[in-house]
Amino acid sequence: MRAALYDRYGPPEVLYEGRVPRPVAGPGEVLVRVHATSVNGGEFLGRAGKVRLVTDLAQRGFPKRTGLDFAGEVVALGSDQREPAVGSDPRGPAVGDRVWGGGRTFGSAAEYVVVRPRQIALAPAGLDLVQAAALPGVGTTAITALRDKARLQAGERLLVRGASGGVGSVAVQLGRAFGAHVTALARAENLDFVRDLGADEAFDHTTTGPADLGRFDVILDTVGIASGTYRRLLRPGGRMVAIAFDLRHAAASLSYIAASAVFGSRRVRFFSGNPTHRLFADLTRYVDSGAIRPVVDTVFPLADIAKAHRALEAGGVRGKYVVRIF
Ligand SMILES: NC(=O)c1ccc[n+]([C@@H]2O[C@H](COP(=O)([O-])OP(=O)(O)OC[C@H]3O[C@@H](n4cnc5c(N)ncnc54)[C@H](OP(=O)(O)O)[C@@H]3O)[C@@H](O)[C@H]2O)c1
Repeated sequence: MRAALYDRYGPPEVLYEGRVPRPVAGPGEVLVRVHATSVNGGEFLGRAGKVRLVTDLAQRGFPKRTGLDFAGEVVALGSDQREPAVGSDPRGPAVGDRVWGGGRTFGSAAEYVVVRPRQIALAPAGLDLVQAAALPGVGTTAITALRDKARLQAGERLLVRGASGGVGSVAVQLGRAFGAHVTALARAENLDFVRDLGADEAFDHTTTGPADLGRFDVILDTVGIASGTYRRLLRPGGRMVAIAFDLRHAAASLSYIAASAVFGSRRVRFFSGNPTHRLFADLTRYVDSGAIRPVVDTVFPLADIAKAHRALEAGGVRGKYVVRIF
């Protein structure tokens, strides 16, 4: 089958469309024909060789695969389905189901993936599967951040850093749906875009400093640079959810996050998402209810996987870059 591969760590150009054996669903597993995947920021670190402990553990040797989330169709079930999914999909997966999912699996930029039932949920019925691929990774991240970690309430003031990006573009929509007052930070050419997504106000992050923004109950930081400065914008009792931090200052970032959990009323929470069925099913419900929709900047064919990575690295994305497989 066709798959995005790389033979050495490096820049986006190490990626190419190659061929690998088609996987077979083992006992308890599900074979999904992938219609599309998306490019996620965390994949750069893996491809560039900056988290080799993780990438070498997940995939031995080269070529390595890329892609963390997907939307597609169940085409085969392994024997012994002992792991029925829960929640909205109590019967478990069936051949022909339109599903979405992902997790800390590497390799969804390929024609087929083998997953456990807990890694997928039924995709929204009305959604095209290529469009749908924009949501599993960033959508579940935004839900975890705002609903589960920050416990965002109606009427609260929410600041989203990186509002036009993958996670940010969903967080703006979700914040609005939760009834919060949403302030978005994005580059100048994307201010109208984030207002259209539901931001009450939008500011250019290149010209607006933290001091000009006011106070917030919840801050979602998808950028990870100068996060401590933004934390000072929290009202007492406020919560900041950080999903990224600058690897060059990882120790400092981690220690201030840890310290905030012990001291003070302005808490910083960090998490590393590993979504499962329940969260993907919640994502489906948010789409079905109209609270969020996928935001696709550009759809790239699999053969252009390097261009898709290059584009995201260059900055300025509006929502997601999606990679179409079929
Ligand atoms: N912890 C987790 O579970 C988790 C889950 C998902 C993602 N992440 C991480 O979270 C980060 C964001 O993910 P994403 O998918 O939303 O990425 P993305 O689509 O690339 O969006 C990043 C956003 O950050 C903005 N940005 C970049 N540098 C900035 C700066 N110096 N100041 C202000 N804004 C800046 C970008 O705006 P412009 O380019 O337009 O300026 C863009 O809107 C990535 O590092 C990713 O690895 C973590």
